Amino acid sequence: MSKPPVHVTVTGAAGQIGYSLLFRIASGQLLGPEQPVVLRLLEIEPAMGTLEGVVMELEDCAFPLLAAIEPTSEMKTAFDGTNWALLVGSIPRKAGMERNDLLTINGGIFGPQGEAIAVHAASDVRVLVVGNPCNTNCLIARAHAPEVPDDRWFAMTRLDQNRAASQLATKAGVPVADVARVAIWGNHSSTQYPDFENATVSGRAATEVIADRDWLEGDFIATVQQRGAKIIEARGASSAASAANAVVDSVASVVNATAEGDCASLAVVSHGEYGTPEGLVFGFPVRSDGTSWEIIEGLEHSGFAQERIRLTTEELESERAAVAHLLG
Ligand code: NAD
Ligand code: LMR
Repeated sequence: MSKPPVHVTVTGAAGQIGYSLLFRIASGQLLGPEQPVVLRLLEIEPAMGTLEGVVMELEDCAFPLLAAIEPTSEMKTAFDGTNWALLVGSIPRKAGMERNDLLTINGGIFGPQGEAIAVHAASDVRVLVVGNPCNTNCLIARAHAPEVPDDRWFAMTRLDQNRAASQLATKAGVPVADVARVAIWGNHSSTQYPDFENATVSGRAATEVIADRDWLEGDFIATVQQRGAKIIEARGASSAASAANAVVDSVASVVNATAEGDCASLAVVSHGEYGTPEGLVFGFPVRSDGTSWEIIEGLEHSGFAQERIRLTTEELESERAAVAHLLG
């Protein structure tokens, strides 16, 4: 007998990321090849026609695991009984903007969605915020859903982890599977700190394998921090397939156990770990046992790393101050 379906809500389902993401969820790549899913797809009214086309394509794939599709412009229907809320829907930045330039445009979306999640979602709901600036949008949504425990809220720094791992692998001349424990600290923004000091390559410290410290402190960090902007410059649109892939990786990293010696990068609610201000949605290295997860404690930071983490912390604090009026 097949398992009961897991309900997955995707907001902004007719957008670019949605178009890459929905088919991967429906094919079983998000929650595994045994797990049926119901897709609950939220869009704004003007995009419902486009969403209808996406729904037809989903139907035409005849995915055996896709138990039902519920396209809607109503938050109540979108979040009704949902187990995973993937909050993608929002405006992407254009060339020349920083992600937090979107705060005033997108911030207002996440309070009402947080409220709707609190009222309508399943009691085990977990929320991954993708829409930018994702850390602070997650902070806003959570502020409107105090009933939903802190360990259910995530913002997406996994794309940064994947970007960083790929850069380290190329530099070291090894397959990307040989790179592990790449932590992204702080904000999904140009102040994030991709932590090469705690990363490993082929089981050894990345700093031993890659002796070029100037590259690690310079081009490596800048490439990861600026990758989103470079993609917008090249494509004329923000990353979509790689972002959808990172959504799949993020959820998988929560519902599956973390491999020994590795970590998953996720922005989660801070309770003061590593001296970060409480309540910020802060990028940390996380370890899951498949049921619950924890921030990996005890990693060491050089003076260089501490200064980088200070900068991204300051940015997140200033974003929190800028949206104080949206925090309820
Ligand atoms: P897109 O413009 O292609 O699609 C966004 C969709 O959201 C549109 O279809 C739009 O109609 C819909 N939408 C807007 N307001 C909505 C609302 N209130 N409720 C429901 N749907 C709504 O954009 P995209 O390329 O899919 O990117 C979506 C977001 O994801 C952007 O904010 C982008 O910056 C962000 N993003 C984050 C990461 C990350 O790593 N965290 C990576 C890539 C993109
Ligand atoms: C990314 O990192 O590609 C996304 O956050 C989109 C952006 O604006 O950079």
